[in-house]
Amino acid sequence: MSSKQILDDIFKKNHPDKNIKITVLGGGHVGQPLALILSNYGYNVVIYDLNPNVVHAINEGRSSLEEFGMDFLAKKGFERGLLSAQSSLATSDIYIIAVPTPIKPDFSANIDSVLNTLEKIAQVYRENQTIIVESTIPPNCSESTLIPFFLSIRPEIKVKFVHSPERIIPGQTLEELIYNSRTIGGNTKESIKDAFDVYSTFVKGQITTSTLIEAELCKLFENAYRDVNIAIANQIALYCNNKGISADRIISLANNHPRVNILKPGIGVGGHCIPIDPWFIIQDDPVNTTIFKSARTINSNIENIVFNKLEKMINKMGDSKVLLLGKTYKPDVADIRESPSLNIGKRLVKLSENIVHFDPYVDNDDLSELVKENWDLIVILVSHSQFIQLFNQQHINPELIFDATKWYE
Ligand SMILES: NC(=O)c1ccc[n+]([C@@H]2O[C@H](COP(=O)([O-])OP(=O)(O)OC[C@H]3O[C@@H](n4cnc5c(N)ncnc54)[C@H](O)[C@@H]3O)[C@@H](O)[C@H]2O)c1
Repeated sequence: MSSKQILDDIFKKNHPDKNIKITVLGGGHVGQPLALILSNYGYNVVIYDLNPNVVHAINEGRSSLEEFGMDFLAKKGFERGLLSAQSSLATSDIYIIAVPTPIKPDFSANIDSVLNTLEKIAQVYRENQTIIVESTIPPNCSESTLIPFFLSIRPEIKVKFVHSPERIIPGQTLEELIYNSRTIGGNTKESIKDAFDVYSTFVKGQITTSTLIEAELCKLFENAYRDVNIAIANQIALYCNNKGISADRIISLANNHPRVNILKPGIGVGGHCIPIDPWFIIQDDPVNTTIFKSARTINSNIENIVFNKLEKMINKMGDSKVLLLGKTYKPDVADIRESPSLNIGKRLVKLSENIVHFDPYVDNDDLSELVKENWDLIVILVSHSQFIQLFNQQHINPELIFDATKWYE
């Protein structure tokens, strides 16, 4: 179902007010779409965020995210009086934590924001309220760290605690939020029921209940699995490149096997999940996660290989004008988190003042004007659909274009 059909579907039925207050802590890529959906399903939703841009946008009835449908949902939720945002926390029936969980320089998980929000909740929490953590967290983090941390502040209370990891992909947030399956792990039957009641109002995928650690691990292994699959494609690309054979051709032939589905090689893995989450399990048990460590090493090293290739190419051309196109971690989105193309570009522009790095999803200049300049080389780092259309429209000489996403061909 398209995002447009999903929006029509939401508004076909008039979802009555539920008189349940939900605070979503962290109104970013994960928390904000969830908050917008919940407010349009009749929950009284407050977004708690430290970023004033998020708070202002929501309180003006718009979204701070650029995805299709978000502004519309924000406007509708706001107009119903069921959506607002603030930078201080008030008591709620349900708290949903969706703050970042990056890695530290030593690759261990940084759960400071989750602890910070839990500390805030502990100050307003009342008996029978439920805390749901959607942020991705390390194995056993709920039982060993988060619940004990909360109880160290509120030792007199019986906390209802849930972990329900998010699986959405930016660019298809609305579809995935509603149609993806979801796991709900909790510390009591009552906490699981509270979370189930909330998610089942809008989730059309399967909802499975579990223990806390099962919910934590399923999310982490999902992303480790994806990283390994990408590493297989990249390893084939490295092998074939070394032999002077087309990896795309070999992968396409291999995929004729009914039970083989090798992914496409690329310039590395970006985004907020796949390059980070495998480290949570590698750190937890380095001995039994060697395949995940190898996958991380293979995928993160592609960035260096592409940089070296481009550096050589540019140096060989002398002092030439080079346009690098694409900064995001994948095509047709504005997300630059952990983006290999951004890192490659940042290193390349240091080589010469005549190297320009541009992304129409990130920068404000007019791409069609920019490509008209007298470039000696145009490098594609991300295959945004508009690049190909523009090159065709403007009759750019194909010999000037190098597609770095096919570095191995
Ligand atoms: N982005 C994805 O596609 C995705 C998918 C699945 C899971 N996740 C996980 O969801 C979690 C959130 O990711 P995201 O992509 O929404 O991050 P994000 O950076 O887009 O948004 C996080 C929001 O939290 C706010 N914030 C940070 N610290 C805060 C604090 N202490 N108190 C209140 N607000 C705070 C930030 O201002 C920001 O608006 C992470 O654990 C991530 O791994 C992300």
